[in-house]
Amino acid sequence: MNNMAQIINGKVISAAIKAEIRSETEKMAAQGTVPGLAVVLVGADPASQVYVRNKEKACAELGFYSEKHLLPAEITQEELLERVRALNADDRIHGILVQLPLPKHLDARQITEAIAPEKDVDGFHPVNCGGLITGTARFAPCTPAGCMELLYRSGIDPAGKHCVVLGRSAIVGKPMALLLLQADATVTVCHSKTPDVAAVCRQADIIVTSVGKAGFLTGDMVKPGATVIDVGINRDANGALCGDADFASVSAVAGAVTPVPGGVGPMTIAMLMKNTLAAAKAAQK
Ligand code: GUN
Repeated sequence: MNNMAQIINGKVISAAIKAEIRSETEKMAAQGTVPGLAVVLVGADPASQVYVRNKEKACAELGFYSEKHLLPAEITQEELLERVRALNADDRIHGILVQLPLPKHLDARQITEAIAPEKDVDGFHPVNCGGLITGTARFAPCTPAGCMELLYRSGIDPAGKHCVVLGRSAIVGKPMALLLLQADATVTVCHSKTPDVAAVCRQADIIVTSVGKAGFLTGDMVKPGATVIDVGINRDANGALCGDADFASVSAVAGAVTPVPGGVGPMTIAMLMKNTLAAAKAAQK
């Protein structure tokens, strides 16, 4: 008998979250606060332009105030810092996002640290990263936070489960592991130096993969009935968008799986909007 994994639909779940945010935003607007997001894009990276446009669209959809700061690739570190400082001081702006990657001559770390932690809706500032360890983070990074929402809203509670996180980046793997731990999961983090990743994966009740390799996770690495959350955004041999999971073999054994596209992807912007709403609420008090 063929297993039919539950397909976790990020488009449907993100639409539900956005509807909740829109109704909260209307209530806040009636009290005189409109959540405001500033997106800063340096240079003309085509992928970044698409992300920035989508963020602007989401703001318009949800009734947020938004500003797009398109800055030349040649901007100096000091000029960019000045722009961030001006946004820190601007009361209409509750969230600031500097689109990454930045041109190579700029120091992204220093720019990230210049954003006021209470406006750091990306959750990349060390104060917010540190808050993931103490359980006091104002904002969790949007992609791992979106993965948590996908689990909860699909009726999958990580508490007491063995979760295996593939990848240890600062924006996905590490915060993902900390959010799962905070949610009472037992967490194993695997990376490029981990021997026999397949054997570790086979012990997992939940796998979150963010290695950036098409076809990395195959069905033989998945315990029957396990959940697979696929953060990968890759191109397959035919140039089509795909995740880290070999979808056909993984969905034949998994209990639930996110597709790519249409899984984690739509959640990231929804969580950015949620963080911006939270920032506006905190500013209102
Ligand atoms: N570039 C790709 N994803 C992201 C993101 O979530 N935040 C920022 N600032 N830059 C990105």
